[in-house]
Amino acid sequence: MEKLHFYSKILVLVLSLSAAVEVAESAIGVNWGTISLHRLSPKNVVDLLKDNKIEKVKLFDADPDSLKALMGSGIQVMVGIPNEMLALLSSSASACDLWVAQNVSKYVVKGGVDIKYVAVGNEPFLTSYSGQFQSYVVPTMVNLQQSLAKANLGGTVKLVVPCNADAYVSNLPSQGAFRAELTQIMTQIVSFLNSNGSPFIVNIYPFLSMYGNSDFPQDYAFFEGTTHPVVDGPNTYYSAFDGNFDTLVSALSKLGYPQMPIVIGEVGWPTDGASGANLTAARVFNQGLVKNVLSNKGTPLRPGVPPMDVYLFSLLDEGAKSTLPGNFERHWGIFSFDGQAKYRLNLGNGYLKNAKEVKYLPSRWCVANPNRDLSTVASHFKLACNYADCTTLSYGGSCNNIGEKGNISYAFNSYYQVQKQNPRSCEFDGIGMITMLDPSIGDCRFLVGVTDEKSLGFRSDSGWCVILLVACWVLRVIFM
Ligand SMILES: *[C@@H]1O[C@H](CO)[C@@H](O)[C@H](O)[C@H]1NC(C)=O
Ligand SMILES: *[C@@H]1O[C@H](CO)[C@@H](O)[C@H](O)[C@H]1NC(C)=O
Ligand SMILES: *[C@@H]1O[C@H](CO)[C@@H](O)[C@H](O)[C@H]1NC(C)=O
Repeated sequence: MEKLHFYSKILVLVLSLSAAVEVAESAIGVNWGTISLHRLSPKNVVDLLKDNKIEKVKLFDADPDSLKALMGSGIQVMVGIPNEMLALLSSSASACDLWVAQNVSKYVVKGGVDIKYVAVGNEPFLTSYSGQFQSYVVPTMVNLQQSLAKANLGGTVKLVVPCNADAYVSNLPSQGAFRAELTQIMTQIVSFLNSNGSPFIVNIYPFLSMYGNSDFPQDYAFFEGTTHPVVDGPNTYYSAFDGNFDTLVSALSKLGYPQMPIVIGEVGWPTDGASGANLTAARVFNQGLVKNVLSNKGTPLRPGVPPMDVYLFSLLDEGAKSTLPGNFERHWGIFSFDGQAKYRLNLGNGYLKNAKEVKYLPSRWCVANPNRDLSTVASHFKLACNYADCTTLSYGGSCNNIGEKGNISYAFNSYYQVQKQNPRSCEFDGIGMITMLDPSIGDCRFLVGVTDEKSLGFRSDSGWCVILLVACWVLRVIFM
C-alpha cells in the first residue's frame, strides 16, 4: 500500500513536471534581424534571448556569426534564405546541396544549433515584388528537400515559406481566399507543406493596415475589446489579428487543408518614426497579442487549438533597414538596438530584462556648435542622414520637436556614432563639436554607439599598421 502510494506520488510528480515543461515551452519567439548600424555582438544577443527565456528565434539568412553564437544554446532556430538566392537554388541541385551543407548540416550536430525550419524566401509573393520571385519558390523547395534528405535531415528540418498576409484577400474572415494569381502555386506549396508535416507561415501586421488606411478602426487593431467588432455569420471578431488569422484558415480550407497548422512568422508594432508608432501603442499591442496567444483560446474558426507559435517582429531595432515602407521600419524592436527593453512587456516569464555587458563607445556626442552660422549646413545634414539614421526626426517621431538646431545636432551625432566616434566625422566644416554632456531632450534620445567583436578588428588593423610601418622603416633603412 505504502509503496503504491509512493509510486503514485512519483507518477503525479512526473505528470506535473511534464505539464510544467509544456507550459514553459512558451510559444513566443522573436525575429532576429541584423540590418543594423551598431551591431550588438551575437553573444550579447544570445545571452539576451536566454535571460528572457525566449526559446525560438527566426533569422533572415544563415549568418555564420549568429549561428555560431546560437550553438549549444538549446534555442530553436528558423534559418531564412533571402529571396535573391532563390533563382540560383531553384535551378541548381548542387547549389542546394552546398547551401544545406554549409548552412544547415554543419550546425546540426551534437552541441550545435537546433535548426527546426528553413524558410524558403521571405514574403516572396509580396504584391510589391510584382511576381519576380514567384516561379522560384516551388522548384527551390523540391531541390532543398532532396538535399536535406541526402544529408539525413529530411525528417528533422522542415521547409516553410513565410508569406505576407497580402497573399490572401477578403472582406470577411469566412470568405478568405488566396489572391487569384497565386491559387495554383499556393495549392502546390500547401500540398508540399502538408506532406512534410510543415506549418503555413504568415506575417500579420495590423499596424500596416492602420497606417495605410485612415478609416481602419483603431481599436480593432489592438486586443483590448473594440467598439468596432466584425460580425461574420455566427462569429464576432474583436481584433484584426484574429480576423486576419481566420481569413487564412478559410483560404487554406478552400484549397482542401482546413487543418493545416499555422505559425505566425512576424507580428509586432513599431515605436517611432510615424504617428501611431509609439511606446504605448507597441506595449498595448504586443502585450495583448502575448496574452491572446498564451491563453490558448484560439480563434472562432480554430477554437482552443494547441499553442500557437508566434515570432515577434522584432527583437532589436535595425537602423540600416530600408525606409521604403515608412520611417517606422527601423523601430520594430521590443529592445532598442543596444538590447535595452523599450517598455514593460511580459512574454510569459516576467518583464523583459535588458542585455548585460553591452560594450558601448565612450559617453561622447557630436552636436552643432551653437556659435556657428548654420545656414550652410543643409548638405551636411543630408549626408549625415543618408549615411546614418535620422528617422526619429520625422513627423510623429520621438525627435520631431527638437527645433532646427536640435535636428542638425541629432544628424551630426547619428553620423558620428556610426563612424565609431572618429573625431574627423564630427568636423562638418567646423560646425560640429564633440561634447561629454548628453544632449538628449525629453523622449528624444541621442544615442551612443555599441561596439562588437568586429570592432576589435579595428584594433588588430591598427596593429597591422604598426607592423607595416615598422616593416617600411626597416626596408627604408636597408635600401637607403
Ligand atoms: C549560406 O548562407 C549565407 C547567408 O545567407 C550565404 O551568403 C551563403 O552563400 C550560403 N552558402 C551557400 C553555399 O550557398
Ligand atoms: C500612440 O499611437 C496610438 C495609435 O497607434 C495613438 O492612438 C496615440 O495617440 C499615440 N500616442 C501618442 C502619445 O502619440
Ligand atoms: C527637423 O527635421 C525634420 C525631418 O527632416 C523636419 O520634419 C522638421 O520640420 C525639422 N524641424 C525644423 C525646425 O527644421
